[in-house]
Amino acid sequence: MQTVVSGIRPTGNLHLGNYFGAVKSFIKMQEEYNCFFFIADWHSLTTHPHPDNLRNNVKTILCEYLACGVDPEKATIYVQSDVKQIPELYLYLNMNAYIGELERVTSFKEKVRQNPNNVNAGLLTYPTLMCADIIIHHADKVPVGKDQEQNMEMARHFASRFNQIYGVEYFKEPESFYFNQKAVKVPGLDGSGKMGKSEGNAIYLCDDEATIRKKVMKAVTDAGPTQMNQEKPEAIRNLFTLMEIVSEPSTYDYFNDQYNNMAIRYGDMKKQLAADINAFCAPIRERILEYQANDEFLQKVANMGAEKACASAQKTLEDVREIIGFHR
Ligand code: TYM
Repeated sequence: MQTVVSGIRPTGNLHLGNYFGAVKSFIKMQEEYNCFFFIADWHSLTTHPHPDNLRNNVKTILCEYLACGVDPEKATIYVQSDVKQIPELYLYLNMNAYIGELERVTSFKEKVRQNPNNVNAGLLTYPTLMCADIIIHHADKVPVGKDQEQNMEMARHFASRFNQIYGVEYFKEPESFYFNQKAVKVPGLDGSGKMGKSEGNAIYLCDDEATIRKKVMKAVTDAGPTQMNQEKPEAIRNLFTLMEIVSEPSTYDYFNDQYNNMAIRYGDMKKQLAADINAFCAPIRERILEYQANDEFLQKVANMGAEKACASAQKTLEDVREIIGFHR
């Protein structure tokens, strides 16, 4: 059976981008693969060196995984920092990673631009830690959104470089997995770019109906099309992309025809989009609250996941130590 590994940083609540870029695939893949889904709390330290409430954020993501339908009986759900073998593999991978290639990673350069006073070594070596997460369980497939393409490319490089340096065929090169074969980038509602926590444009799975409505109604639009069948500007395209993701195809087609015929009323489209997003989030929202009140169950899930993930990681580390020349 093929193995799947993926994780999400606990830097806030899950948003629609996380769901449609990653979690939706988790739910599908747990039925047919050996899955490891984790909460990347070490990764969150790269941008949040003094996390207020790290423990609570980890709990939030755990509840949200479960509320979305990630099933601890089918998949191994764990917290990254419970698997102490990961930093040892990270150390070995760092020895074979070059500063130049790490400095060229787009998301690193972006973070440096956004936060020039916090260019830490963890940020630079983010891709080797991510590679360690993935190859420690010998993942074949990694469900992620489009923004992780470059990190995935780096993970493949580091895995194959390890094999090359030590003259073995030990690690596989992990592939990205996209739900409908196409990399997903869920847009934000502010007229540009992707939906993200740090972009401040996200709709969260736990948002209530009024919040969702308010966020969608505020979305950037324009004065409307001036020609039949004209190409949509980015802000409008984003609204349609979101509708394509959460609404029925017939709803999307209706508003798309309205746009093409220059009869579109953005207010109506937004009301429909807000209603469809709410219909999607409402049951998840309810389940999040239920899980949040059940600490005992959450602890049981985390313990069970840690045990399984550590067993798998330990086996890899023993092999790796032997390959490099340390005692097992
Ligand atoms: P993170 O925490 O930024 O995001 C978690 C997942 O959500 C996806 N995502 C999106 N997909 C589509 N559209 C969006 N607007 C959008 N925003 C977020 C991300 O692609 C990701 O799949 N580096 C990872 C965490 C990580 C990891 C790993 C992932 C650490 N180790 C090993 C896979 C395997 C990250 O920062 O994701």
